[in-house]
Amino acid sequence: MDQRSNATVISVKPANSTVREFILFSRTARTDSNFTSLMDGGRLDVVYQCILMSIFSSHKHRDTKFHGILNGSPNPPLHLEVDGRELRDARVDEKTWEDILRKVLSGEAHPGIKLEKKSFQELVKEKGKVYVLEEKGMDISKVKFDKNPVFVLGDQVGLPKKDEKFALRYGEKVSLGKGLYLSSSSIDIVNWWLDRKGIQ
Ligand SMILES: C[S@@+](CC[C@H](N)C(=O)[O-])C[C@H]1O[C@@H](n2cnc3c(N)ncnc32)[C@H](O)[C@@H]1O
Repeated sequence: MDQRSNATVISVKPANSTVREFILFSRTARTDSNFTSLMDGGRLDVVYQCILMSIFSSHKHRDTKFHGILNGSPNPPLHLEVDGRELRDARVDEKTWEDILRKVLSGEAHPGIKLEKKSFQELVKEKGKVYVLEEKGMDISKVKFDKNPVFVLGDQVGLPKKDEKFALRYGEKVSLGKGLYLSSSSIDIVNWWLDRKGIQ
């Protein structure tokens, strides 16, 4: 969405091509539409912030995919997928996303967004190779990234140990440095780094 003119800028990359991807493990995000605000919805605000940093750059959608694994009540786990190439009718403000997430979580469709029953471990297994964002990993400047990398990250609490261990069967830990960043900031930093390196 172009924030100045409200015109949607559509990506030219076909939706079946591979892209940079982010997988957020949310321990608490609600799995129905029964919430009064994103924050009260088991920290759906963290999911919203990560969608924003994964998908939006200034005046256009990125060729990226965001995956949120929602593990809150009453119907976990749900896999929420947002594809920047197909997303339509979405501004960047929180109210817009509160409405979109409420709609999708009550079973209605929205272009570029899918919801299905799927666990974190099933999704990671499907991806085959992942980079696990963790403070104590290899510094991002030293990692040789594949094309179309898939990043895994934790929520406001962090990735549960057993899921981190599972993800590490499929990849390695990558560090953004010693500071502990918000999940959404971590995505922003990774996008910035890969943009500079010219890695999609
Ligand atoms: C708010 S942090 C989690 C904080 C949690 N208390 C912990 O200790 O893991 C959210 C996520 O951002 C990512 N993250 C934050 N800082 C990072 C860093 N310096 N390097 C790599 N990933 C980081 C991790 O995936 C982390 O699970």
